[in-house]
Amino acid sequence: MTEPLVSPVVTLRDGLELPQLGLGVYKVDNADIPAVISAALDIGYRLIDTAALYGNEESVGQALRESDVPRKDIVVTTKIWNDDHGYDAARRAFDASMDRLGLDVLDLCLIHWAVPEQGLYVDTWRALIDLQEEGRVRSIGVSNFAEPELREIIDATGVTPSVHQIELHPFFNQARMREVNRELIIPTEAWAPLARGGELFTQADLHQIAAMHDATPAQVVLAWHRQIGTIAIPKSVSPERLRENFESLRIELTDAQIDLINELDRGIAGRTGMDPATMRRIGE
Ligand SMILES: NC(=O)c1ccc[n+]([C@@H]2O[C@H](COP(=O)([O-])OP(=O)(O)OC[C@H]3O[C@@H](n4cnc5c(N)ncnc54)[C@H](OP(=O)(O)O)[C@@H]3O)[C@@H](O)[C@H]2O)c1
Repeated sequence: MTEPLVSPVVTLRDGLELPQLGLGVYKVDNADIPAVISAALDIGYRLIDTAALYGNEESVGQALRESDVPRKDIVVTTKIWNDDHGYDAARRAFDASMDRLGLDVLDLCLIHWAVPEQGLYVDTWRALIDLQEEGRVRSIGVSNFAEPELREIIDATGVTPSVHQIELHPFFNQARMREVNRELIIPTEAWAPLARGGELFTQADLHQIAAMHDATPAQVVLAWHRQIGTIAIPKSVSPERLRENFESLRIELTDAQIDLINELDRGIAGRTGMDPATMRRIGE
């Protein structure tokens, strides 16, 4: 019998063990959340990534309560949205997320975007620092920060984010930002790890590598994430694809295969989302 799969974890600076492969629920309808989360937990996923913006925190919380998997074994991430920057607003947004999720303590809270134009990210970061000190959230990090804003919140507060979640996939592999994160000792978490599906899966190199491992292109991409050290949170509403993605944990790519995937990078032309440096309040 094959062993049940367990994701490796990355231990964050504050001790939280973040599974290296988790589930993202952006654009998962509330009606689909119970089945998706139940299937994911059965398969072995132990990290769920939501956000106030996604409009599904309430159904995520409900699905977690209905599961047999102990709450302590699941890492729940949510995020403070762009309209809720500033010390007091961020704390209110955190409280509202916790009410919707129905949790006593959150595992990981991120600032969703820095929104440099607003200039409130340091105050927002101070709110998360205090919430962590008060024991309301185990770990605090950021998402979509460019290098200057990332360094600024650390310099201003002396507190380094536990994780930095950024868009990252073979078309946009973020070598520079990963280097900055590494220098600051911040693990990198990849959103849109599959480049949102579609064109990435048409790449001949990925098909060739996949054939060598009796795998799919998506599995090869997720193995690449794991082996370059990123935490990946692919989204799927399909039980088959949820399993397919988790089974990527069985795949071990060669260094040459990783190099080939690195060559798919298109720089900023490969972005699917907004640029953190110019992001305003709209978008994701
Ligand atoms: N911090 C941020 O600003 C930010 C921004 C965007 C996303 N995120 C987070 O990152 C998570 C993932 O990003 P994402 O959802 O945008 O993109 P993604 O995970 O790269 O791609 C999801 C797309 O790929 C498809 N897919 C999944 N597994 C597949 C497989 N094995 N074969 C073929 N297609 C497959 C999905 O379709 P099906 O559902 O039909 O399988 C969906 O259309 C989000 O859910 C969210 O939690 C964060």
